[in-house]
Amino acid sequence: MPHKQQSGRAFASDNWAGVHPEVLAAMAAANVGHVPSYGGDPYTRDAVARIGDELGGDAQVFLVFSGTAANVLCLQSMAQSHQAVICAETAHVHTSECGAAEKHIGCKLLTVPSPHGKITVPGIREYLHDIGNEHHAQPRVISITQATEYGTVYTPQEIRAIADFAHANSLLLHMDGARIFNAAVSLNVPLKAITSGAGVDALSFGGTKNGLVAGEAVVFFKLALADDFEFKRMQGMQLSSKMRFIAAQFSALLTNDLWKRSATHANRMAQLLAGELAGIKGVTITQQVQANEVFATMPKEIIPKLQEQWPFHVWNEANSEARLITSFDTAEADVADFAGLVRDAIGARGK
Ligand SMILES: Cc1ncc(COP(=O)(O)O)c(C=O)c1O
Repeated sequence: MPHKQQSGRAFASDNWAGVHPEVLAAMAAANVGHVPSYGGDPYTRDAVARIGDELGGDAQVFLVFSGTAANVLCLQSMAQSHQAVICAETAHVHTSECGAAEKHIGCKLLTVPSPHGKITVPGIREYLHDIGNEHHAQPRVISITQATEYGTVYTPQEIRAIADFAHANSLLLHMDGARIFNAAVSLNVPLKAITSGAGVDALSFGGTKNGLVAGEAVVFFKLALADDFEFKRMQGMQLSSKMRFIAAQFSALLTNDLWKRSATHANRMAQLLAGELAGIKGVTITQQVQANEVFATMPKEIIPKLQEQWPFHVWNEANSEARLITSFDTAEADVADFAGLVRDAIGARGK
């Protein structure tokens, strides 16, 4: 992806965006005096309590630095190395984490075809055989991503159906919630409705993509999974000594509905972008736009020039499908500028 960026902005990812000013202000406000390290501070107590309130149940909450670490540490608490995690073939944990789960847990990932990013019970059921056979990795966890890597969302009913199936078959349900805020506002439901209320056992609760500097949390709703987690987090090198600064970011996100405001805006910008692109001959929107991601095919030859001004990833080279992600700070003018460039580039072809 060429990076000769002129606009200073991008549709490459929501982590290309900066930090929400309210989050930075909260970090600055926490930058006062000395407090106990490693999470023994009042900021961490406040953030953990707020996260627990939003997510419901008796959530056990542990702050960490990165989304990959949250996924690996969740799954490590749920599966042993002779067991397997069933996930979408598009799952970030499978495609984009450099085999971190396989390295740290040693478990097998079993992937289910997911043309729209979601998996369903029939696809999962295919793997439920040879239970008790020592020659066969034993399925133990189902991992779903909310919103999915295609920007689609699972409804509370769809999550509940997977959770019920999991529990009826002695499996556990993990959710990679790197974009959970975008999913919740898309569905117009509280976070509880797609987590504790829908039968999720463990959640990677992502803040970074919704305007934090860096802040994720491992959240357990099935409390036994939290046993000894402090040790796993430390061995996993995810125990922040100055944890108050991760905590202050989360508290800001959960204050005055900042998470909703930011995710609602990002989703609205994705709708706007999809609407603009759909009106351009030669561009086809390939996935339902439900969160803050737009997937679109476009003529291959126009892509490099577009990327010089508006960096974005090509998701599928074979059909020149672009992945465009909007953020809390995407402006309507950004969308108009990008769509105008696409229109002009397509119009200029062959001239
Ligand atoms: C769905 C999903 N899960 C997990 C992650 C991992 O987050 P991090 O880059 O903080 O490790 C990402 C980041 O792109 C993601 O998109």
